[in-house]
Amino acid sequence: MATSEEIEKIIQTTDMVDLVSPFVKLVKSGKNYKGLCPFHEEKTPSFTVSQEKHLAHCFSCGKGGNPIQFLMDIKQISFGEAIQELAQKNGVSISGYHKKSGPDYSKYYEMMGVASKFFQQNLNMTKSGKEAKSYLMKRGLTEEMIATFEIGLAPTGYDSLYKVLKESNYLELDMLDLGLISKNDKGYYDLFTRRITYPIKDEQGHTIGFSARIYDNKDPNQPKYINTKDTFLYHKGTVLYHLDLAKSEILKKKRVILHEGQMDVIAATQAGFKETICTMGTALTIDQAYVLKKYAQHAIICYDGDKAGIKASKKAIQVFKQAGMQVHLVLLPNGMDPDEYVVKYGKEAYLSYFDSHILDEVEYGFETAFLNRNLDDIQMIEEVKRDIFQVLIGISSQSVQKKYLEKLSEKLHIEISLLEKDYTTYCTTAAPIKSVEEGYVDNDFDYPDVYEPVKIIQEKKNYELRLFLYARNSRQRALEIDQKINEFMDVFEPIHQDIWSALIDIYYSKYETFDDALFCSLLTEQQKEVYLSNLERLRGAIEVYSDEDLALIIEKMRSEHFKLQNKSIDQMIQKTNDYEVQLKKIEEKFENKKKYMPNRRKQ
Ligand code: UTP
Ligand code: MN
Repeated sequence: MATSEEIEKIIQTTDMVDLVSPFVKLVKSGKNYKGLCPFHEEKTPSFTVSQEKHLAHCFSCGKGGNPIQFLMDIKQISFGEAIQELAQKNGVSISGYHKKSGPDYSKYYEMMGVASKFFQQNLNMTKSGKEAKSYLMKRGLTEEMIATFEIGLAPTGYDSLYKVLKESNYLELDMLDLGLISKNDKGYYDLFTRRITYPIKDEQGHTIGFSARIYDNKDPNQPKYINTKDTFLYHKGTVLYHLDLAKSEILKKKRVILHEGQMDVIAATQAGFKETICTMGTALTIDQAYVLKKYAQHAIICYDGDKAGIKASKKAIQVFKQAGMQVHLVLLPNGMDPDEYVVKYGKEAYLSYFDSHILDEVEYGFETAFLNRNLDDIQMIEEVKRDIFQVLIGISSQSVQKKYLEKLSEKLHIEISLLEKDYTTYCTTAAPIKSVEEGYVDNDFDYPDVYEPVKIIQEKKNYELRLFLYARNSRQRALEIDQKINEFMDVFEPIHQDIWSALIDIYYSKYETFDDALFCSLLTEQQKEVYLSNLERLRGAIEVYSDEDLALIIEKMRSEHFKLQNKSIDQMIQKTNDYEVQLKKIEEKFENKKKYMPNRRKQ
């Protein structure tokens, strides 16, 4: 722990105006500075900063405090993290706190930044950029939004980005790892070409991936968007588009708006809702809900008003509730998405529609149950009832249930007593609502990361290296694989056994995420050489992890292991003249076959 003297020193050495300025536009007012409070919404400035006293205070909501408190609140970080950040900034040394020993990703952030700049320049300064820009303008984006969201254009050439990065002396290994390029027998090629690019950033604003949209429709078979596949920086299950810019607004407004796609986030931001985010082509996960909960307890889901959007909304409600958040929804008319609404009716109309149509979960369930259903059709009436019962069953208040049953009775012209009976029956027979598991992903709503061409070369040999590639990027997967192959490790050459053991027993017992340099530092020179040369040779060949390939490898290892065992038993049989021992060994061979090759029959 830092001592109280050290903490005092950190406070005294902080320039409060410097610290607050990135978050609040400050104007000098007498001895102090004033600005609009970053912790609540206001029109006249109540947030006061005293440089002399090293204090900030909002005279309206009461938030603020010393530099440590301010940093904790504005960045939603812990006391320890705030102290460390300030100590480092002010050059104060503190006892007991060590710099986090996680891998240093600055080189990779820099590379992603170079890629993003390259795409932006290509949009803003080239002829094809003009065409792409006119597409964006036609969709209603302003220059300001294009700049804010750092929108760019991936050029048509097949290796333009690769060349730019190569010229800056970046390594192919790193470009591959970041999901920017791939490799085939002709060489390296860009994964994003001829598409409008949207950088995807982490919570701190580092670019960690891209989403890229077609705009010229030359090939109708192309997917609309392609997104970065999961890399060591980019995890689609946790990333939230625009959170880096939205978080201060989410904090201030005490709510977050979840949209379906990035064009909706941009349109809503342009219209005036800056507290918006979206996932990247996946259903909301519980991890994402927990990330958002750090900033606000209240979420408003505003997905597309179509069938898929409604289905996904209902899933997202459960995820937010599971995370302990309050949920509301906005249902847009005629199946529209926010972007379409803004383009069609304008910003003002969108703002007022949104604000006056915030529904709670039951209202939303009620509204959507009637969409596209013909009430003259008995079957459809049953569907409406089922949808509404399903919402009511998750509500604990009996009076709310009663209110909605009455409403339903009116709308359907069915006697309330009958409806109540049906509801009771439904409650006793319906399957309980499934709870949301960690990392929950809904397949209906998940778009695949699209990569051309997805090529899995299943080399006959070198399965240890394929396993290695699979194991590198995920600790959990590595440990799972290890469990499965542990028994068959003898089929690896000794040096590969050692490398594997360095990964599982040393590296992953210490670190969560993988870093080549860090891993290599744990290897002997010889192991490192083998590891790097094989990695380079196989890289690009396997772009996606596949369960089937893993099963295939394990199968191979099992049969190799079986052969090895047999071989050593045969050697023993040959060596001895003792008939008893020979018999025993032959018995062992049978046992082995049963154990490792239970399904193998002679054809
Ligand atoms: P939508 O199909 O609703 O696209 O997908 P959109 O946001 O309305 O896009 P525009 O307006 O046509 O440009 C919603 C989100 O799903 C992901 C993207 O993140 C998109 O923003 N998606 C969609 C993919 O990942 N791949 C696809 O092929 C399509
Ligand atoms: Mn759209």
